[in-house]
Amino acid sequence: MIINMTLARKILARLQDGQFHSGESLGKSFGVTRAAIWKGIKNLESEGYAINIIRGRGYQLRQNADLLNVDAILHQLHFAPRSHISQLTLLDSIDSTNQFLRQTEHQYHGHFCLAEQQTAGRGRLGRTWVSPHGANIYLSGNWVFDGGITKLAGLSLVIGLAVIRALASLGYDHLKLKWPNDIYAQDKKLGGILIEMTGDPLGPCHAIIGLGLNVKMTESEAEEITRPWTNLQSLNSNLPSRNTIASHLLSHLIAILIEFDQAGLAAFQNEWREHDMLYNQSISFQHSANTITGTARGISPEGHLLVEYQNGVAAFTSGEACLIKLQ
Ligand code: BTN
Repeated sequence: MIINMTLARKILARLQDGQFHSGESLGKSFGVTRAAIWKGIKNLESEGYAINIIRGRGYQLRQNADLLNVDAILHQLHFAPRSHISQLTLLDSIDSTNQFLRQTEHQYHGHFCLAEQQTAGRGRLGRTWVSPHGANIYLSGNWVFDGGITKLAGLSLVIGLAVIRALASLGYDHLKLKWPNDIYAQDKKLGGILIEMTGDPLGPCHAIIGLGLNVKMTESEAEEITRPWTNLQSLNSNLPSRNTIASHLLSHLIAILIEFDQAGLAAFQNEWREHDMLYNQSISFQHSANTITGTARGISPEGHLLVEYQNGVAAFTSGEACLIKLQ
């Protein structure tokens, strides 16, 4: 199917007011036929938008109807062939999509899972990932890598790049990555990645890759979040449907997993540098019980964070960095 996204997006923007718009008036203002408007409406429906169509009145966007739909997601996969997805499970509510895929009966390569809500969403360092219903994207995937766990150093970094690529393809530029795998916009956290490994540390490993992306979560839903956060809706009011966002994420995730399996982290180092929020910035870095201050100097070929302090550069495999804002 050829999707005239530009027209569909224009129609969507017009329908955001919740009013009825006739095919004739939409056609006139965009300089296209009523048939083209009809096609645009069908494209929006295939993305998961619910639209009231009433003869004599026209089209009206049904608000809050942006629910996930497997067909709409698979339909919009652009360059990642469906053959790489052995299964796509959509759940209304689950404790954690990562946990779902970790259960033995779900452990197979290419199994992806999305949920409308997580009741015990997990973040890095034992934190909770706030996951209200229908508001964000909670996506996990199971990918098997041969050759042992050491080959997977840097995996979480490239997943961050997949998110950057996917969101750039939807018009979200200037996003940043904060080592090891937070996605930032305008100095606020937009998303995070949690990778959990199972399997044989020397042989085939299952990487359970979990991604949380804030899309339209409200302040009241996010009450328990204590750090600055943002969502896609605040960055651009012309928000794509969650199905479109999920589909772009899935496409780029799969493409990057294949690329990473073949080429390793080295192939991505320059791209990572372009989005590295900490690069050459003053940071405080908490590692185990110690906190140091220094200057972030990018990542090593293994994906470790390089920090210059006390006249030397040290490489860290884990920890939490914070920018020091100079007054
Ligand atoms: C972080 O920044 O702390 C990582 C957040 C990861 C959240 C995602 S949401 C989908 C998947 N399921 C989980 O329980 N966690 C990850």
